[in-house]
Amino acid sequence: MPQERDKDSLSVNPLFARPGEDTVASKTKLADGEMLPETAYQIVHDETMLDGNARLNLATFVSTWMDDHANKLYAETYDKNMIDKDEYPQTAQIEQNCWKILADLWHSPDPGGTIGTSTVGSSEACMLGGLALKRLWQHSRRADGKPTDKPNLVMSSAVQVCWEKFCNYFDVEARLVPISEDHKCLDGFELEKYVDENTIGVVAIMGVTYTGMYEPVKQIAAKLDEIQASTGLDIAIHVDGASGAMIAPFIQPDLEWDFKIPRVHSISTSGHKYGLVYPGLGWVVWRERQWLPEDLIFYVSYLGGDMPTFALNFSRPGAQVVLQFYLFLRLGRSGYAKVQQACQDVALYLSAGISEIGPFELWNDGSDIPVFAWRLKEGHTDKWSLYDLAERLRTKGWLVPAYPMPSNLENLTVERIVVRNGLSMDLADSLLADIRTETEYLNRLESPMPQEAAQPGFHH
Ligand SMILES: Cc1ncc(COP(=O)(O)O)c(C=O)c1O
Repeated sequence: MPQERDKDSLSVNPLFARPGEDTVASKTKLADGEMLPETAYQIVHDETMLDGNARLNLATFVSTWMDDHANKLYAETYDKNMIDKDEYPQTAQIEQNCWKILADLWHSPDPGGTIGTSTVGSSEACMLGGLALKRLWQHSRRADGKPTDKPNLVMSSAVQVCWEKFCNYFDVEARLVPISEDHKCLDGFELEKYVDENTIGVVAIMGVTYTGMYEPVKQIAAKLDEIQASTGLDIAIHVDGASGAMIAPFIQPDLEWDFKIPRVHSISTSGHKYGLVYPGLGWVVWRERQWLPEDLIFYVSYLGGDMPTFALNFSRPGAQVVLQFYLFLRLGRSGYAKVQQACQDVALYLSAGISEIGPFELWNDGSDIPVFAWRLKEGHTDKWSLYDLAERLRTKGWLVPAYPMPSNLENLTVERIVVRNGLSMDLADSLLADIRTETEYLNRLESPMPQEAAQPGFHH
């Protein structure tokens, strides 16, 4: 008699179950008894097999490949807890080395004397940047005897969800400047209408999640200079460089976007995106120590010294920090430049190829970060949409998400490719061939695709 099953049951292949073991386990309830490690391993291994092929996932920005030396280091350090600076002083030292390297890369006037930290990702890093802006604004308002109950943060409507979370979690009004066909990202246009005495800062994104475009930090700063000249408001910028802060220094070294601009008080990035480390790592660095208010810092003593820390999480893995240092040593500036340039070459090649297919119009071409988005040309068809193309590509293993643009442009659907390390020219050729074939298929349709296919996928 087969054992009874329900939707939460996990069936154990009789070939995997060891003598005497049940062939049904629960997915959602802890069993009374134990399972042999071999059987448990096989089950979990098989469950994860259903995940997609990370190399064909062109939706995510996050690293999916590291070399064998990194894998070895990972295996040697996955037990390290980043917060345990007494137990792992060397890992703590490596963390400091890393943010000092970043402070230098981003032209802090005092890379050795400023302050930074690792985080679990850009989301936490952005929140720390936002918190510092909020606290500094509160201090200055209190010093002037003014109320502090209505802080706001000004940013593009195309910000990543972490900024909406920050505003929600930390009671800050999110003032979103809508993007439009004429102003495809926050560029300073009409900024004076959004900032006021309650503005804690402006977020500039280096590599907008929706499209990959850089927001012109220098232009935004110049607009804030003008606003200061006419109103006296001195408003700082946090650069959300989740992707771009690890691209621009290497392949657009002449672009001014970082601490060279005095108004940029803090910069965050994801070590696990173009920092090229496995998931679970972000960084935030302040231009100078003064921009991280002292009352947000906690001190831990290790190595006989006093180590300043500022983070939302307590325990978290230290291995990714070690891996970041490995890559900094291994690649240096020239190595990072080669890897990022290879991605950009593929992005430009793909965007040119897609624009030649016919029905598509590029929103951007991947010449900022190696990410670009396109849309269907106006009036091309009402039989299919980019959601259908995304579905068709999915059947070939490619994850190329289609989604609506943010408010104000929400009726516009785009499709996006994130070129990461590992998407070679050869793979790009296969992808282009598949996009051509599937577009031809869709163009031959005699009646419209069913609407249920048109569901926006997850994108981040
Ligand atoms: C511009 C931007 N900021 C923040 C984030 C959040 O990054 P993380 O996933 O590292 O928390 C992302 C993620 O894609 C992003 O693109």
